[in-house]
Amino acid sequence: MKSTIKKIGVFTSGGDSPGMNAAIRSVVRTCAYMKIECVGIYRGYQGLIEGDFKPMDARSVNNIINKGGTILKSARCDEFRTPEGRATAHEKLKAEGIDGLVVIGGDGSFTGALIFNKEYNFPIMGIPGTIDNDIFGTTFTLGFDTALNTVVDAIDKIRDTASSHNRLFFVEVMGRDVGHIALNAGVGAGAEEILIPEEDRGLERLLESLKRSKKSGKSSSIVIVAEGDKSGKNVFELKEYVEEHLPIYDVRVSVLGHMQRGGSPSCYDRVLASRMGVKAVEALLEGKTSLMVGVRDNELILTPIEKAIKGHTKLDKELIRVSDIMTT
Ligand code: F6P
Repeated sequence: MKSTIKKIGVFTSGGDSPGMNAAIRSVVRTCAYMKIECVGIYRGYQGLIEGDFKPMDARSVNNIINKGGTILKSARCDEFRTPEGRATAHEKLKAEGIDGLVVIGGDGSFTGALIFNKEYNFPIMGIPGTIDNDIFGTTFTLGFDTALNTVVDAIDKIRDTASSHNRLFFVEVMGRDVGHIALNAGVGAGAEEILIPEEDRGLERLLESLKRSKKSGKSSSIVIVAEGDKSGKNVFELKEYVEEHLPIYDVRVSVLGHMQRGGSPSCYDRVLASRMGVKAVEALLEGKTSLMVGVRDNELILTPIEKAIKGHTKLDKELIRVSDIMTT
């Protein structure tokens, strides 16, 4: 089915991630290429409700492909959760003549978009933007690769000081309820242990592993802890626990925090964002709706948003095995 879409609105929502700007640029330029109008919507759903719109042409996205964050800003918006908020947003879109939306964000952003689509039959298309890599229907979300590089770089630096002082570091990384960042960055940075929510192996195992590590001649160690780890103790409690049971260790904690969401996107994220932006606009113009663009085996695919938000991403079992072997 061919669509009659003439004006696409694009916005970023939820936690920002590197590559969002590259995706905005791609959506805007694809619209220009297809000779349809494009409007930037500021501050996600909040800007939608307030009519915070700005027409965007190909030149308005010059020199942003390399920038972290999002030029359209992002916000969490409770008002859009209410029917009244969504009605106001619909009025604003109608008044502006916007007849299709590209949402760049995570599952929370997609949930809002889907409700809106069902209520108003409004065409929507999703691009997964989050460092957590926790969205079903894509092997990689925008920003994940950059965040991994940022985390590995930070851990390399922590290792320098850890080894100078013969210390054990617990490094907490982001990822909400999933361990993708922890596992991949942990393997990439050569961490001695990786604690992730998907694999609760217990604290005894951690102590045993640290004892073995000491015995085998390692003078310093890095333990990566995913923020959603379910060992029952946060990084600071883990520090106390190990100090109490293995006083031989001089322990420090480093919580990497929001620096993981910033920085210039990697080449991989820029290319992926450019590809996803084109695909999202093309799909809308083909009359498709309520889908999310994803990548699998380096091919772009479309998954119903309904599935993307309900499905679960699986951790790479082979990588868990690799990690176990590497930490011997
Ligand atoms: O979803 C991205 C993410 O950075 C998570 O890794 C983290 O748990 C959360 O957002 C932090 O959110 P906020 O920016 O609201 O503190």
